[in-house]
Amino acid sequence: MARPGHSAWLVLAAGVLLLAASASGQTQNCLSATFQGGRTFQKCGNMAALGASLHWTYHAVNGTADIAFRAPQGSNGWVAWGINPSGLSMGGSNVFIASHDDSSGTVSVLTTVLEGTSPTFANQSLSFPVPVPPTADYAAGVYTIFTTVTLPRNSTTQNTVWQAGQGTTGAYSPHPMSEANLRSTLSLDFLSGQSTGGGSNSRLHRRNIHGILNAVSWGILIPLGAMIARYLRVFEAADPAWFYLHITCQLSGYILGVAGWALGLKLGSESKGITYNPHRNIGMAIFCLATLQVFALLLRPDKKNKYRFYWNIYHHSVGYSAIVLSAINIFKGLDILKPAGGWKTTYIAILATLGGVALFLEAVTWAIILRRRKSDKSHAAANGAGWQHQRQAA
Ligand SMILES: *[C@@H]1O[C@H](CO)[C@@H](O)[C@H](O)[C@H]1NC(C)=O
Ligand SMILES: *[C@@H]1O[C@H](CO)[C@@H](O)[C@H](O)[C@H]1NC(C)=O
Ligand SMILES: *[C@@H]1O[C@H](CO)[C@@H](O)[C@H](O)[C@H]1NC(C)=O
Repeated sequence: MARPGHSAWLVLAAGVLLLAASASGQTQNCLSATFQGGRTFQKCGNMAALGASLHWTYHAVNGTADIAFRAPQGSNGWVAWGINPSGLSMGGSNVFIASHDDSSGTVSVLTTVLEGTSPTFANQSLSFPVPVPPTADYAAGVYTIFTTVTLPRNSTTQNTVWQAGQGTTGAYSPHPMSEANLRSTLSLDFLSGQSTGGGSNSRLHRRNIHGILNAVSWGILIPLGAMIARYLRVFEAADPAWFYLHITCQLSGYILGVAGWALGLKLGSESKGITYNPHRNIGMAIFCLATLQVFALLLRPDKKNKYRFYWNIYHHSVGYSAIVLSAINIFKGLDILKPAGGWKTTYIAILATLGGVALFLEAVTWAIILRRRKSDKSHAAANGAGWQHQRQAA
């Protein structure tokens, strides 16, 4: 009988084999690709996003590259590949867009320079020569764009961009803003085939940090702090403690939240053209409400002061508004970021848990308050004159 150690080795070996097979499968994926008309290319690479691959042959003598860009997409969608001589971003990109014609169903390529924010998609010549006119084909759910370009500045290293979205020729819908759609830039050396990820990686990273900071602060810490204030207070034993816990929660939530908010503003100011006004405006409102809460703390009247009643109303309404707006804005942010995996579900689960706990504690609180009132009443009845006094104290 094999010892357990042996089976562990077997599993490991099988795993390594599988990994090797899948790795070689991936390289083959690009090397074994075949093209219309028996075209071949010397180099290829699977790109990091959108399932795309690039195949090319670089000619040093005249600084040109024959290119095939391949990416999967539904027949009522478009794919695009291009070079941006001015940086790793969308603005300034010289792109080839392949799509189906809505009426004839034929596949055609449009070339255009994406100027700034809202591209017009006029079929225009690019900022570098395209010695062989581009063509495209579509088979088995995959577009292939063929073109030959003279690499700008006769440099072998270029900023390449690619993208995919819905729409037919001349009626392109904007591409989604998912992680993959924002990761689709690559600085590629056409001579060596080496590539490095684009600037949008660090931008994506910062967007994720912005999301996590804000979800943890406004989405978890601050509602938790509000629950502490509301539900711990009824326990006499927790008297000053709830207050300090509440302050700690809210202040740390506020500090993290302001950091996340500032990062969001920075990201917004860098994102030329793409603006998320509702998300931004709600974020501003939340910041103002929360800041108001911090200052309100300094103006809090004494417990016995007659204005304390109004201050409480104010404090609660501003606080609850900020919490509701935060939850709305976190969903808006999740829709913008479209993170991979179950982030949205996780956040919904957290909200549901907080809500469930709040509901339960609300019931407990009311039970305690009602019982206390009842015992107060019977005390009052026993004491006769005590009732008036109780009412004043309440
Ligand atoms: C560039 O050079 C290659 C290799 O000599 C040649 O096949 C190709 O036709 C040339 N392209 C242009 C646009 O001159
Ligand atoms: C481009 O650069 C290569 C060397 O990297 C050179 O051999 C070639 O002549 C240059 N072509 C042009 C059009 O300047
Ligand atoms: C763009 O112009 C080229 C050349 O004039 C043409 O072959 C191509 O079909 C045009 N593409 C579109 C989408 O109109």
